[in-house]
Amino acid sequence: MSKDTITLTDNTTGKQIELPILRGTKGAPTVDVRSLYKELGYFTYDPGFMSTASCRSAITFIDGAKGILMYRGYPIEVLAEHSNYLEVCFLLLNGELPTREELNEFTSIIQDHTMLHEALQNFYNGFRHDAHPMAIMVGIVGALSAFYQDSTDVHDARHREISAFRMIAKMPTIAAWSYKYSMGQPFVYPKANLSYTENFLHMMFAVPTEEYTPNPLFVKALDLILTLHADHEQNASTSTVRLTGSSEANPFAAVAAGIASLWGPAHGGANEAVIRMLEEITATGDIQPFIDRAKDRDDSFRLMGFGHRVYKNYDPRAKLIREICHQLVNELGTEKMPLLSTAMELEKVATEDEYFIQRKLYPNVDFYSGIILSAMGIPMNMFTVIFALARTVGWISHWNEMMQDPESRIGRPRQLYVGKDTRDYIPIDQR
Ligand code: SDX
Repeated sequence: MSKDTITLTDNTTGKQIELPILRGTKGAPTVDVRSLYKELGYFTYDPGFMSTASCRSAITFIDGAKGILMYRGYPIEVLAEHSNYLEVCFLLLNGELPTREELNEFTSIIQDHTMLHEALQNFYNGFRHDAHPMAIMVGIVGALSAFYQDSTDVHDARHREISAFRMIAKMPTIAAWSYKYSMGQPFVYPKANLSYTENFLHMMFAVPTEEYTPNPLFVKALDLILTLHADHEQNASTSTVRLTGSSEANPFAAVAAGIASLWGPAHGGANEAVIRMLEEITATGDIQPFIDRAKDRDDSFRLMGFGHRVYKNYDPRAKLIREICHQLVNELGTEKMPLLSTAMELEKVATEDEYFIQRKLYPNVDFYSGIILSAMGIPMNMFTVIFALARTVGWISHWNEMMQDPESRIGRPRQLYVGKDTRDYIPIDQR
């Protein structure tokens, strides 16, 4: 009996099989169950995939108990302090930090791909002005494959690389133009002489009537938010991108599916939901009813920005974002961040409440990111758009890793069928 196996006994038949244990660099080892159905006739059952590894990945590692998050082996705290979003994009895509020459070349390539085909402006004009920017972003990104047939061979490494560059470069333009369209303001074209994050803020807030120079603290805060949201293992939207891409769909269609998944308030839509909740609490001036509702099993209300599928300790990203929140208060004053004091009070009350302590429900990254974005004058319906902008590099890195994985195949989960057994058709007059 090999030491690196699990022995499984079917007590109904007495049959035994040995399943291999697969061990990674860090984190929980996995039991390879691929032979289970063939050898014992069983599927595994794991709704929500809480105990299921869907793939091998070398991109990001999370330890939920210890509050650890690493991109390609670099702790998020180190990257937050010493790196920036575009360098993190290179790291996530290529697996190594760039040399100065590599970073200069990567930056120049990204700057060369920020424009959108002019015909795409017609897509924006097809939406109502009050369309949610996430609806616009899903539509525009899905349509990109219609403009780039020259790079949709998913088995061609160069095509995959060009698609990655295009996605990373164009998302700020697509996102900013979604905002401009909703404001009825003219689209602002990207500028090659601005940094990635400065360029996005410029396209968001510049108007033809005056010069616009972004507040350096806003640039720093937004670049940190983009860095912290860049990737996060096999979360719902990344798993959606992988599953979509596993059918060999083009990367633009796969990323559009990821954007749709991120939109949900249980996932990336939480940052918008946090602000709506904080505004409601601030208006009523009483936190306790919200805590009571969150604890009531019969009430579907959950405390937005609290809890996490993996972090059963403090979300390391929340700690980093909390710090920049306080820097902004010191710079801007609380009048610019009226919700921050409510957030701090809610955090204190919730983290001292037995219900939250027992369930290890702590503030996650979304609890603070919305406060910073609103202090920067970014409207709530753009928060998840910015999350999608940031996560695009994670989605495309996982898609690229999957397309190179020899073990990768089309995703096709099985089920536990609990429907009707075989039955006869009854003519309508006899029903
Ligand atoms: C993101 O996966 C990722 O990595 C996601 C993300 C990323 O970077 O991609 O980190 C981004 O999506 C962050 C999460 C943002 N969502 C929210 O803030 C929405 C509020 N949070 C919850 O919806 C919830 O915590 C989830 C969805 C985040 C996690 O849900 P789980 O793992 O399914 O939690 P659970 O249902 O197992 O909860 C266990 C208990 C339950 O109570 P009991 O059945 O034990 O009595 O905790 C309760 C839950 O009801 N609970 C909450 C709660 N979250 C869980 N109760 C009140 N408020 C909450 N927020």
